[in-house]
Amino acid sequence: MLKDNFGRAHDYLRISLTDVCNFRCQYCIPDENTSFMPSSRLMTVDEIDTIAQEFVKLGVKKIRLTGGEPLVRKDAEKIILALSKYPVELTLTTNGLRTNEFIDVFKKAGIKSINVSLDTLDKDQFFTITKRNVFDKVWDNIQQLIDEGFHVKINTVVMRDFNDSEILDFIQWTKEQPVHIRFIEFMPFDKNQWNTQKVFSYQEIMDVAATKYSFIRMKDGLNETAKKFKPLGHEGTFAVISTMSAPFCSNCNRMRLTADGKMKNCLFSKGEADILTALRNSEDIVPIIKQCVASKEEALGGQFQGDYKKIDATKIANRSMINIGG
Ligand code: GTP
Ligand code: 5AD
Ligand code: SF4
Repeated sequence: MLKDNFGRAHDYLRISLTDVCNFRCQYCIPDENTSFMPSSRLMTVDEIDTIAQEFVKLGVKKIRLTGGEPLVRKDAEKIILALSKYPVELTLTTNGLRTNEFIDVFKKAGIKSINVSLDTLDKDQFFTITKRNVFDKVWDNIQQLIDEGFHVKINTVVMRDFNDSEILDFIQWTKEQPVHIRFIEFMPFDKNQWNTQKVFSYQEIMDVAATKYSFIRMKDGLNETAKKFKPLGHEGTFAVISTMSAPFCSNCNRMRLTADGKMKNCLFSKGEADILTALRNSEDIVPIIKQCVASKEEALGGQFQGDYKKIDATKIANRSMINIGG
């Protein structure tokens, strides 16, 4: 079992399959003309499999595939099926544009739960944020995932004066459908034009929710990123991921692997351990993984703490979200 110096057991690995995405959300891809990594830098299917196997031997119980958009990778199916042989909960976070092509693969791989990113329920707003005119397709795909029996969580990054006016509409969606909305506080990453004013906080989200709905707080799962709520009489739930105003680092169990095979011990870690180069040089990657976990900071990569309104985002050293994988 991988333990850090604060006694936290690490059994959840997030693997980014690619830094390519078929959307252009500016909070995630800072530069529209961004150039993606050459494929020689990406982990191959076999390399992902080998690295995952080592993590599983070290006690990993959950693997989430991320991107960019994981399903744009041509060999996504092969990767999903290769990882399905491990005794882990396999899952993914996707923008939902191509899930219809993978329903059988998901089922074959034993995937039960899928997180879909969707920041708005309005077609025009959808285009504004993603620069792609595909709201209807994503919506239909989400409906299909629900109909096919997957546990569907919707990730909604709430940005002031952009989509905070849609919070009640998102919660209304949970009335008739077993869908689980997760409102996410906007986080600072390289060049993503974050500022404190744009953060619509956990408290503000709850205040808006309470203007229309009665709900009860649900029990936190182990290592949960979200505070969950059940509106009375609704099929689904809503939750808040409050990284900025109420971080949840004390029970963190998460490790990340970027598409180019660098390990990050925190979403906000400055340092990275080059697992892929070590593997390609036939070195033992286990001590590198252990050392990376051991060097984890107590919270937020040691990059900020306290009142988020006082954060100077220019002092945070990190990649952009598309390069980390979320
Ligand atoms: P579940 O396993 O379904 O609970 O999902 P998850 O929250 O682990 O993963 P997902 O990829 O759906 O991420 C949702 C949001 O939570 C994204 O904005 C992530 O950046 C954020 N998130 C995920 N893991 C962490 C984490 O370790 N720390 C922080 N601060 N945010 C995280
Ligand atoms: N702040 C909060 N969440 C973000 N995501 C991407 N960028 C940010 C950000 N700056 C979310 C995406 C996706 C998840 C992996 O991370 O919407 O759902
Ligand atoms: Fe874990 Fe870092 Fe996220 Fe905190 S910010 S929960 S330490 S990954």
